[in-house]
Amino acid sequence: MKKFQASRGTVDVLPPDARRRLRLVEITGEVLGRAGYEPMETPVFEDTELFARGVGESTDIVQKEMFTFEDKAGRSLTLRPEATAGICRAYTEHGMHKLPQPVKVWTAGPFFRHEAPQAGRFRQFTQIDAEALGSDDPTLDAELILLLAEIFERVRTGPSRLRLSSLGTPATRADYIDELAAYLRAHEGELSEEVRGRLEQNPLRAFDADHPGTKAVMTDAPRLVDRLTTEDAEHFAEVRALLDAAGLPYEIDSTLVRGLDYYTRTVFEFVSERLGAQAALGGGGRYDGLVEELGGPPTPGVGWAAGVERMLMAAGPAEQDHGIDVFVAGTGRDAFVLVGQLRSSGLRTQMEQAGRSLKGQLKHADRLGARWTVILGDEIEVKDMDTGAQQRAESVDDVLGMVGA
Ligand code: HAM
Repeated sequence: MKKFQASRGTVDVLPPDARRRLRLVEITGEVLGRAGYEPMETPVFEDTELFARGVGESTDIVQKEMFTFEDKAGRSLTLRPEATAGICRAYTEHGMHKLPQPVKVWTAGPFFRHEAPQAGRFRQFTQIDAEALGSDDPTLDAELILLLAEIFERVRTGPSRLRLSSLGTPATRADYIDELAAYLRAHEGELSEEVRGRLEQNPLRAFDADHPGTKAVMTDAPRLVDRLTTEDAEHFAEVRALLDAAGLPYEIDSTLVRGLDYYTRTVFEFVSERLGAQAALGGGGRYDGLVEELGGPPTPGVGWAAGVERMLMAAGPAEQDHGIDVFVAGTGRDAFVLVGQLRSSGLRTQMEQAGRSLKGQLKHADRLGARWTVILGDEIEVKDMDTGAQQRAESVDDVLGMVGA
């Protein structure tokens, strides 16, 4: 018989990890909810064209990593590789630009990228994602960054560095890329072969090179943050001033390149000091042209996404199960009814459901970490599992009183 296994790049989330994930999403809702972000959901698959246009034709995501398929009517659909494009589509489709702005939303769920799996990189992974649409106010950029930092703090992901930059407008960026390519061409002889080969396609990659000659050339290379228009530079300065005022440290990193084409102005990424090669816990930025690019009204936007698997990897192993309040050592309808009463009064209660002997049941109660064990025999006994003291109960009401129900 064929032995089935989870598909490459996918994982089963077993207890107690699944509980930690639920808790993480709960924390996200608490933190974002206080800042006025409402939960929202979009479909797991969308028109392929939405991602091609939204994320960008030239990105690795669109070129290589999409799970694309045809439906029975021959329409091309794609499993969502990220959330922002779908949220922007929904914003336009449901006329959300007519609501008071900004519209603040968050979502969590599965995303799909056909990447080579490795530690911290999956083909199906989970993101939490927050977006603020309809305003270019720099307090939104700063607020979102601070909220993500707060979530990391609450989830205890440990130390991370915040890399921050501004990309300006697409026009600024295009001019800058021409300038950088010209600079690299002027120093062609000092560059690694690899960088030379990609010089015209993607000169920005030269900033990532390890080659000593290339690195030396790059120290004096023109930087995009120095080429921003006055308006964009002021916007960026305000985002930084707000983060300073809030006391959140960051590094200006003009080489920060994100794998999605829609960014304008602010971009950022949190990099964990606890993770290996796939160390980006989360990132995002502003996308002031995206809604319009997708056929909606001109609408600024800013947001982020963070990888749930990576956050939990950084946070370390699951804490111990908190156990149960009461174990009912007994079988049959009396036990079953008592369990129902204890649960209704809010106590986490289990009963014997696998045919163990009384001795086995007591051992099992211990293993479950029960605070109390109720032994149903000819008489009812209530055992305090902390002290070992055992007391007779006269009635079910008596039991409820003794265990604090
Ligand atoms: P992203 O940087 O592509 O941004 O993904 C955000 C986070 O998702 C990453 O930092 C990482 O933690 C996690 N992630 C991405 N790919 C994988 C993978 N293959 N396996 C495990 N985790 C992964 C976005 O997706 C943008 N939509 C963020 C955004 C929202 N920008 C504006 N609004």
